Amino acid sequence: MHNRILILNGPNLNMLGKREPEIYGDQTLDDIRHACGVAADTHGFMLDFKQSNYEGELVTWIQEALGQVRAIIINAAAYTHTSVAIHDALKLHSVPIIEVHLSNPQDREDFRHFSYIEPIAEKAFVGQGLQGYVSAIDYLSTVLQ
Ligand code: DQA
Repeated sequence: MHNRILILNGPNLNMLGKREPEIYGDQTLDDIRHACGVAADTHGFMLDFKQSNYEGELVTWIQEALGQVRAIIINAAAYTHTSVAIHDALKLHSVPIIEVHLSNPQDREDFRHFSYIEPIAEKAFVGQGLQGYVSAIDYLSTVLQ
């Protein structure tokens, strides 16, 4: 397991840069991956940074990470608001789960107000764009000593 952290991104986050830039900004998922890599290097973490549009693939990756990672950072995107399956998979883990959203779902449509990740997340970083991911890694560096 060493110092490995899993960062998971859900559906449509592969379209960042093109997708609703007025909400999500113009940074791409590769920009986020790069910023996370820099932050991880600073703290001596190894990163698995993944994205999928498929709920089952995210569930499988969460299962496969069991015993392999020291924490999971997840932006489940739309599955945040719908997925009992991702909620259940995350409950397999006893390591810290950190929820991230680029926007602040609470400031948006009602259907984004409920999160299946929130009850099992140790902490959430929302509405900070790319910086939320970096803040999540910085936070983990303080709790995973
Ligand atoms: C999001 C917020 C979700 O409501 C939405 O479905 C997304 C992105 C965010 O990062 O702000 O796809 O998770």
